[in-house]
Amino acid sequence: MTKVMIINGSPRKNFNTAKLLKEAARGAENAGAEVEIVHLYDMLYKGCISCLMCKRKGADIKGLCFYKDALTPVLEKCLNADAVILGSPVYHSYPTGMLRSFMERFMFPAHTYMVDKEHGGLKRVLTRTLPVGMIMTMNAPESHFNNSSYRTILNENEESLRHVFGYAETLYAFDTYQFIDYAKYDCDLFDETHKAKVRDEQFPKDMAKAYDMGKRLASLNKA
Ligand SMILES: Cc1cc2nc3c(=O)[nH]c(=O)nc-3n(C[C@H](O)[C@H](O)[C@H](O)COP(=O)(O)O)c2cc1C
Repeated sequence: MTKVMIINGSPRKNFNTAKLLKEAARGAENAGAEVEIVHLYDMLYKGCISCLMCKRKGADIKGLCFYKDALTPVLEKCLNADAVILGSPVYHSYPTGMLRSFMERFMFPAHTYMVDKEHGGLKRVLTRTLPVGMIMTMNAPESHFNNSSYRTILNENEESLRHVFGYAETLYAFDTYQFIDYAKYDCDLFDETHKAKVRDEQFPKDMAKAYDMGKRLASLNKA
């Protein structure tokens, strides 16, 4: 059975990122996949500790991080899955620290320092393509994303994932609704009426795109 792993890198389990991830899960399930959702903030783990054991001669770890902690079974399931979907809010222009730490452990052992003399580029650890989707949510409107460093920084995550796993795509959800009740917070940078409009009109479209991503990625390796 097709297996899709969904990784929530938001501390909130029922807000923007998690809602989109759950829609992606629904899409994958409707494509016949078995889905598991993991909330990274429930777990205690480290980012890459630079032990470099994954680069040791003769290390036969098949892309699984050598360092063992609570993340190990999740990394193992991701490597064996048919698709993986990562989600995170943008925190100070980057994915959250928890997702970054996850990505270091997920990507570095599957990334080699060995030149592929036959085909060019670097040799790959995974011989098959592992499709990876990213869902990123942010306060910033699309215009800010396009005209700031956000686009470059965040697209770089997709590039790295594509390089290591063979296929990556990203869904960006802009201008998200952040507070449950804006009236209770010091916040005149954002207009609640505008945010509510985006939540009611644009966010459902983002949910539909998340559903499609789940469905598409779950089917990619079947085609
Ligand atoms: C610590 C922190 C840092 C943030 N930094 C940014 C930022 O740099 N750019 C941005 O557009 N939004 C930023 N935000 C807003 C979140 O990215 C946005 O509200 C997101 O949709 C929250 O996702 P969630 O609802 O899944 O928690 C930040 C929020 C927090 C809590």
